Amino acid sequence: MNESGTNAGKLSDVQIKELIHTAIGQLAYSYTPYSDFRVGAALLAKNGKIYGGCNIENAAYTPTNCAERTAFFKAVSEGVREFEAICIVGGKDGILSKYTSPCGVCRQVMMEFCSPEDFQIILAVSEEDYQICQLKELLPMGFGPGNLA
Ligand code: THU
Repeated sequence: MNESGTNAGKLSDVQIKELIHTAIGQLAYSYTPYSDFRVGAALLAKNGKIYGGCNIENAAYTPTNCAERTAFFKAVSEGVREFEAICIVGGKDGILSKYTSPCGVCRQVMMEFCSPEDFQIILAVSEEDYQICQLKELLPMGFGPGNLA
């Protein structure tokens, strides 16, 4: 709990490791015959459920879906719209050697459903090597639902 009595922004070590473990597990499902760049994601909803996602490529290239959006669309298609954090891992042939940062389109999808101040993005290479950023750091002055209100 933080000072305001919520858990916002406070991921436990156990939660972080579970998200990294789940994201790494998703690499096995990644469909990447064109880039061989495998990406796995694990999205933590506020209800405690974790949604996995992998990148899914396409021979026509542009229909390719990133791992992060796969995870978001799985959750939203099941009626879940509130999220706390996402973990992202990726690498050529599934070998993790550096952080994989979300593409601009995925950042914009995060902006649709997540608070830029509270949503945590975990970039990981292993359960021991990771960096946590907030959405507002990766998408400063983002355009979101509030702009249309
Ligand atoms: N990719 C993701 O899945 N997430 C990102 O944030 C960056 C890029 C995928 C898309 C494509 O299948 C491959 O990585 C190479 O761009």
